[in-house]
This record gives sequence, C-alpha cells and structure tokens, in this order.
Amino acid sequence: MGAQALQQRKKVILDVDTGSDDAIAIMLAALSPELDVLGITVTWGNRPVGNCVENTLRVLGLLGKENEIPVYKGCPQPMVRYLTKQRNGALEKDGISVWKDGKEFSIHPAYLDLPPAKIKARASHACSYLVETLLRAEDKITIIPVGPPTNLAMAIRMEPSIITRMEEVVFMGGAVGMGNITPCAEANFYHDPEAAKIIIDSGVPCRIIGLNATHSAELDLEDAASLRALKTPAARLAASLLEMRIEALGVMGDGNGHSDAVHDALAVASVIMPEVITDMRRSRCDIDVNGGAADGQLIVDTRIRHEKDGLPNIQVAYKADKEMFFGLLCDRLGCCHTKI
Ligand code: BDR
Ligand code: CA
Repeated sequence: MGAQALQQRKKVILDVDTGSDDAIAIMLAALSPELDVLGITVTWGNRPVGNCVENTLRVLGLLGKENEIPVYKGCPQPMVRYLTKQRNGALEKDGISVWKDGKEFSIHPAYLDLPPAKIKARASHACSYLVETLLRAEDKITIIPVGPPTNLAMAIRMEPSIITRMEEVVFMGGAVGMGNITPCAEANFYHDPEAAKIIIDSGVPCRIIGLNATHSAELDLEDAASLRALKTPAARLAASLLEMRIEALGVMGDGNGHSDAVHDALAVASVIMPEVITDMRRSRCDIDVNGGAADGQLIVDTRIRHEKDGLPNIQVAYKADKEMFFGLLCDRLGCCHTKI
C-alpha cells in the first residue's frame, strides 16, 4: 500500500461484545486496508466482559494481529439500567443459548472455539482509552459500537468535548418496527438504552445499522460453504460461526434454519463501503428509556424529513445489498493471510 493510501485509511475504533458476529466484524475490519483499526474496546453484552475480552484476543490471535491492534477492557454492566425497578424483563427473551439432549446450542458461546489468547488486554480502561485517544488524535475518528454502547456513553460523560473529535458513530443497534430481545427492542440498545440515548442526543453524527438492514442481507448455509472453500483461517472461522448461529436459532425455534443476519459485520462493511446500505434515511431519533414494554426501543420520527433544518444527525439503515456485503466478506476474509 502506497504512502498516500496509507494516509487516507479511515481511523476507527471498534467497541465489541465478542460474540459470534462481533468476531466476523473484527476480522473484516482488521483485514480491510481501507481501515486503520486504532484499537478495540470491549464491553459486556453477549457474555460477561471478561469472556468478551478473551474472545476478542482469540480472534486477533487467529489473524496474528494481537500485538498490532490493542484491546481494552471496558464496562462490566450498563450505566443505570438495573436501577430502574419497573424493568422486570417480562417481555425479554434470552436468545443466547438453549440446552437440548445434554448439548448447548448457542449463538454466542462463552468462549469461541479458538486457541486461548497469548496476551492480555492493555492496562488502561476502555473509557479512558477512548477519551485520551480522541483528545490527542490529529484526524477525526469513527467509532463503531457493535455491543451495548456503554463504553462510548461513559466516555462522553467523562469528557464531553470528545464529541467534536469523532467523525461519526456507526452503531449496530436498534430497529424500526421490529425487535429481537423484546417485541420492540434490539438487544444492544435494550441492554443499555440510556447509553444509546446519550450518544444519539449528543449531536455527534450517527449512522444506525439496525435489524431492518442486517436481516435484509442474511447469509445462508451455501454462503457458509463458499466461505469455508476459501480455506483461510478467517473465512473458515466465519463459516463455522455462521453455521453455528443458524443451527442454534433453529433449535431455539427461531430463524428459518437456513440463513441468519451477521449484524455486526454489516456495520463494519458500511464504514468500508457505504454503498452496501441501499436504503438510508435521515431522521430525528430517540430511545425509549422508560422501563415499560417499549424499553430500549429506537424511535424514528418518520413523519417529517429534516433535510432542511440540519438538526438531526441520525441516519437509519433500512436495507443492504447482500451480494455486495458477501462479496466484501469473501474478498477480505479470503486473502491477506496464511492459508491452512
Ligand atoms: C446484536 O446483539 C448481539 O447479540 C449481536 O452481537 C449484535 O451486536 C444484534 O441484536
Ligand atoms: Ca455484538
């Protein structure tokens, strides 16, 4: 890569709760020359934060990049969510794993089936790393939260001036008119709705890659076979994770037994190649933080188009190009490192 191309690489920080689809997102980011992954901050979510840190380091270890991309452990729980008593979780559905015939079927195993990490996370807390890195950066940085967005919201509370140092925030979170963890809410925003609201209300430009877009670009068992045929460690891991998700959802009585969304990887893909999102609309958005049936719901004001007043910074994705997304994944996961 030439000096100019290197300079033009988009500086990003991923915020993950690894996580099967997080793992694919990390590999896509780390193997894409358009991105300069400055660091990965880790939060709780799919599993406790300690597991998510270990899984993140395992994925980087598979790529041989654990000494190149620093990993920082972040918050172990949401900002304030569990202080609100009426949040009884009556409508909540834990979609992570089920047991059948003595076997666990999980879309996010406690530990990814990879060799244990050889190194530990860096000493700084993820929130301090975010604040310090954003404050000292010469270029603006894009933050990609693909778990509950606790770390970034905490960092904004710690040092609000970091808002001006972000190019944009590209979330995997939310949904319009659908949910996965409850009928109304997507899991990442549901798990820390106050955090999502703090970021969206902050005025930082945001792109929301939610369930509408991710489910419009589901990958299927044939795609998994094509990935496996690429014979690289990254593509083979992505194939196994995709198959694991589809099988687990089938056992849970969810999904269609043939395909599933790879949510977090689509958010990363949209930073590399914005045109992968084929229907993006700019709206005023809010997050329900009232603890009732709609807790954590992304509220999108579809009544008014605000293009003229310049107020809303929120772009919401409704649809993605599956072929473009899958082509990008194959291209990046299928080359660049040693075949096994
Ligand atoms: C999101 O929730 C997590 O389970 C996934 O990793 C993804 O970030 C999908 O709702
Ligand atoms: Ca995630």
